[in-house]
Amino acid sequence: MTTLIKNGKVISTTGVIAQDVLIDGEAIVALGAPGYFAGAEQGADTVIDAAGKYVIPGGIDVHTHMELPFGGTFASDTFETGSRAAAWGGTTTIVDMAVQRAGENVFEGLAEWHRKADGNCAIDYGFHQIIGGVDDESLKAMKYLTEHEGISSFKLFMAYPGVFYSDDGQILRAMQTAADCGAMIMMHAENGIAIDVLVQQALARGETDPRYHSYTRPSPLEAEATHRAIVLSHVAGNVPLYIVHMSAGDALNEVAAARHHGRNVFAETCPQYLWLTLEETLGRPGFEGAKWVCSTPVRSKDHDPDYIGQMGHGHQGDLWKGLRMNELAIVSTDHCPFCMKDQKELGIGNFAAIPNGIGGVEHRMELLYQGVVAGEMSLERWVETCCTTPARMFGMYPKKGVIAPGSDADVVVWDPNTKTKIGINDKHHMNMDHSAWEGWVIDGKVDTVMSRGTVVIEADQYVGRKGHGRYVPRGLSQYLV
Ligand code: URP
Ligand code: ZN
Ligand code: ZN
Repeated sequence: MTTLIKNGKVISTTGVIAQDVLIDGEAIVALGAPGYFAGAEQGADTVIDAAGKYVIPGGIDVHTHMELPFGGTFASDTFETGSRAAAWGGTTTIVDMAVQRAGENVFEGLAEWHRKADGNCAIDYGFHQIIGGVDDESLKAMKYLTEHEGISSFKLFMAYPGVFYSDDGQILRAMQTAADCGAMIMMHAENGIAIDVLVQQALARGETDPRYHSYTRPSPLEAEATHRAIVLSHVAGNVPLYIVHMSAGDALNEVAAARHHGRNVFAETCPQYLWLTLEETLGRPGFEGAKWVCSTPVRSKDHDPDYIGQMGHGHQGDLWKGLRMNELAIVSTDHCPFCMKDQKELGIGNFAAIPNGIGGVEHRMELLYQGVVAGEMSLERWVETCCTTPARMFGMYPKKGVIAPGSDADVVVWDPNTKTKIGINDKHHMNMDHSAWEGWVIDGKVDTVMSRGTVVIEADQYVGRKGHGRYVPRGLSQYLV
């Protein structure tokens, strides 16, 4: 099967260039000046005319939670529904979080994740491993997974005491192990012990509405945990550290300072922190705000009153600036969907019992393109933060994340001349009974999506198949300074 994508503008991290792309089987074989492959066009099995459109590497979402058991229920997307929704949004690889909790065996946790994903995915997928119980056995497993299973990144939690939480000693030990084998530590950086006190105090005062979820997780507790994680990673031998779902300007300052000192400290943010505010979402009357309960929380449009070192733009302004400055290297979704019915509703009358998570795997490329339209970032930076750096950060480059000869033909044709309306009766393919982005109208549209040379989305139709997606074993990070 050969495919020619002609007349488009190819976007890479370094420029936007009119180029044609030739694909043979599952791989890109050549890029040429417009018309260069005219001789091959007759013989091509498929010709895609991308005139007036952009041609970008397939998106890579490095933070998803399909079927995560959490908050007394399970995230509502399976690998089948969630990976299909990702494809609808121009994402062609996800890296999901396999789970191990205290007292559980890491290998069994990982095997369960393979069982869930194997034969079900529309697009390619890899895994990070959550280590929710740091002990001798799980530390040994980290080394084995890095060396033999293609899993080179491990998520630890400074939040959620009694669920996934690790104390500082456990974190230090896991970081030392990762440093020994070259792996990356991913950190959920919030001071969960202090947050639990604030939660109990709020509930005792009768403050039960969803908005208290954010009030009880103030940004200084994200900044403090971020700082502590950075210090621990230094003491542990400069292990590469990646802070997940960063939501606050004061936390970002900690990452910026570490990077200024040349440390291998990185961070991601998510569309919800770039676009949504506490006032417009969590703060809605009644229980509706539950749709936006996630951790770290969606924050106020202004900085918290005790926020130190603010730039005067609010958290969102700080995060956009951080993306431009590479203080934030990646945009992921932290896709962790729960329906309102029977799931978010578990927390009626008690915000602390609302399952934490927002579904967004379908909309990341769209919402970040809107950042380009709004002048917050360049086209090149859009591709860098959503496609190329994720591949490099997590050991998948140049197989993924770039349009280059030899790379997997994961390619998206993007139409900048039309719009996308997001909403439950509009564009919405995630297994959720609501959308966190209901009514948003976005400039641009996913036109055609290819996964390893196979068209999976075209003409507003899903034409892929369950089981096309393959496991991607990953190497060590290729992004270290
Ligand atoms: O609210 C969130 N983020 N849910 C998923 C679990 C996590 O902390 O990433
Ligand atoms: Zn987290
Ligand atoms: Zn997460």
